[in-house]
Amino acid sequence: MSSGNGSAPLGTRERPTSWWLAMLRKRAERMYEEKLDLHEPIAWASEGERQAAIAFFNAAFRAEESGLRQAHELAEEVAGWDPELAECLRLYGNEEGWHRELLTEFLSFIGGEVRPMGKITGTFYRLYGRAERMDTIVLTNLMFETIGSTTYRLALRRATHPAVRQMLTILTRDESFHVPLNVHFLRQVLKRTHERDRAHLDRIYHLLYVALIGSSYASRRRAEKFDKIPFRELSRAYAEHLGKLFLHEDDLRFSPSSLLLRAFGLRRAELCASPDDSVVSVQAAEAAVDRERVEVRAL
Ligand SMILES: [Fe+2]
Ligand SMILES: [Fe+2]
Repeated sequence: MSSGNGSAPLGTRERPTSWWLAMLRKRAERMYEEKLDLHEPIAWASEGERQAAIAFFNAAFRAEESGLRQAHELAEEVAGWDPELAECLRLYGNEEGWHRELLTEFLSFIGGEVRPMGKITGTFYRLYGRAERMDTIVLTNLMFETIGSTTYRLALRRATHPAVRQMLTILTRDESFHVPLNVHFLRQVLKRTHERDRAHLDRIYHLLYVALIGSSYASRRRAEKFDKIPFRELSRAYAEHLGKLFLHEDDLRFSPSSLLLRAFGLRRAELCASPDDSVVSVQAAEAAVDRERVEVRAL
């Protein structure tokens, strides 16, 4: 199934921008028709669990907000050299904007609100917001999307309340599609990256890899009572999925450190041999452009 060896007929790298654009347009047609069903109040096990849920969905809100802003800013920049790709970025940003709306509604349903960012999260997004190079922004965003979709899939496995499950299912389904979409964005942007800038980009990749795994520690303090994902499991899942994605999409030329993988009991060869999540997501999305029919897999 690896698209890394170029043999997969449905590998994500074969999709032209026009294909992604058609897909995004179809998704956009009915996006706003989908509504959250919030009639059944949630019986929380404790106030601590509810507070952890508010923290969890606040983190999601900030990710959507940042994704929306970066995508629309990039769209303006890209419009000068690839209008079709710019339109993809714009529609993609709209999807994040829609998620942001749903999360605002959901947060108020659980008696929470959008809160100011904590110190670590704030620093993270400030640094990201300051990134100027297009390749850095798209690489960072792809890595954010990957840990986002990983977290949602893991949380979905444990979620029981129908409203929580619906919210997580929507996010899981769409973020899974956003990962291969961002692979496409990165592939296009890298075509314009000069070879001499690759070393810098490579450093960013390795730095982010470690920082994002580290972020799972901070998020456990705030959100574990809700999502029930232990640190060990979440950090290992981040290491696995951030590693696997780039091993499969090997033409992007980012490769996780073997030492780091080994620290989580992961092996490069096994990750290469396991199914390519990007291809699975694209196939699922293609099989059902009506979003309701996409099969969402919990981790
Ligand atoms: Fe999103
Ligand atoms: Fe996304």
